[in-house]
Amino acid sequence: MKSYNIAVIKGDGIGPEIVDEAIKVLDAVSKKENFELNYKEYLMGGCAYEAVGNPIPDETIEGSKNSDAILFGSIGGYKWDDLPRELKPESGLLKLRKELGLFANLRPVAVFDELIEASSMKPEVIKGVDLLVVRELTGGIYFGEPRFNDGQKAYNTMVYTKDEIIRIAKVAFESAMKREKKVCSVDKANVLEVSRLWRATVEEIARDYPEVELSHMFVDNAAMQLVRDPRQFDVILTGNIFGDILSDEASMMSGSIGLLPSSSIGGIVGLYEPIHGSAPDIAGQGIANPIATILSASMMLRYSLGEINAADKIDGAIKELLQEGYRTPDLAKYHAKVICSTEEIGSLIADKISKA
Ligand code: NAD
Ligand code: IPM
Ligand code: MN
Repeated sequence: MKSYNIAVIKGDGIGPEIVDEAIKVLDAVSKKENFELNYKEYLMGGCAYEAVGNPIPDETIEGSKNSDAILFGSIGGYKWDDLPRELKPESGLLKLRKELGLFANLRPVAVFDELIEASSMKPEVIKGVDLLVVRELTGGIYFGEPRFNDGQKAYNTMVYTKDEIIRIAKVAFESAMKREKKVCSVDKANVLEVSRLWRATVEEIARDYPEVELSHMFVDNAAMQLVRDPRQFDVILTGNIFGDILSDEASMMSGSIGLLPSSSIGGIVGLYEPIHGSAPDIAGQGIANPIATILSASMMLRYSLGEINAADKIDGAIKELLQEGYRTPDLAKYHAKVICSTEEIGSLIADKISKA
């Protein structure tokens, strides 16, 4: 029997609640498809700081490097907001991404027909939306030096090298070749030097992909166009901070940020996580939507383990569940037949797979 080693990082807030449901679903599908998943849990974030005084113990990095894939929930919380930067939960995640070389974060945004009324946007604007945000993940203003804050003055530095832009642009163009063959590169080239280099470099790479239609958009306009006419987009290629912001904005087309998965690739081993955070405002209540994490687990099966049938089964079961009207409270206002807890959604999806 095929067997895979999965590093599991549950994290903080709703992290453990949503990852537990993803594991429930993975167990059901691996049994059905005849492969074995060996999970090993690692600490990261606020929970790691509490346990060992470090948001990312070496063991977590080593264990992740030695796994076939990483399934991650979320980190962070009010409790750790005032810690020095190096000790904050967020630093743990940023270090993991950097150490593993995960420079490409793929965030697909699709609108389920079943949830078309769940979005705060109009059905006629969002019907059929299917786009992919390709976000650079290990560079830009998140990591640039110098960075400084003495209480009177503070700064960060947005830096991209040409090589960093080339490799993320290639991911975007390769993705577009498997989709609608359109790339919209989002920058702020009317103001920022780093964006001018970004734009010129993306133009160069585009020459190797003559079938792909390339456009450029300033990020402020892109934020507006995403809610005006999101169907104009196929692949959005952008830097670290713009991608972070635009993908949270785009999540509202789907109805809830609790529906959007992601994969982080390009390095030693793929990392799969929902795009949302630890949602401290609802943690511990059993009401978080686990679907983003379950879809991330499906992406893990598809892209890191090559278990395509299993991934298809998960995606199909989620679609069916939504068709039947089961919803967590974030989606409950709209056409919900049954309002469910986090655990119930996980069990319903797992049961569908087991009984199919
Ligand atoms: P957030 O994404 O955690 O929450 C934003 C809002 O969306 C909240 O109202 C929350 O309840 C809701 N929400 C998020 N996920 C949900 C889900 N699955 N189901 C239902 N509702 C959901 O963002 P925030 O509040 O700005 O940040 C909270 C903490 O999470 C911060 O410490 C932040 O740094 C951290 N964070 C971590 C990650 C990550 O681990 N990758 C991502 C984003 C934010
Ligand atoms: C995300 C989060 C992270 C980011 C934070 C927690 C460091 O917002 O994964 O989108 O900004 O990348
Ligand atoms: Mn984010």
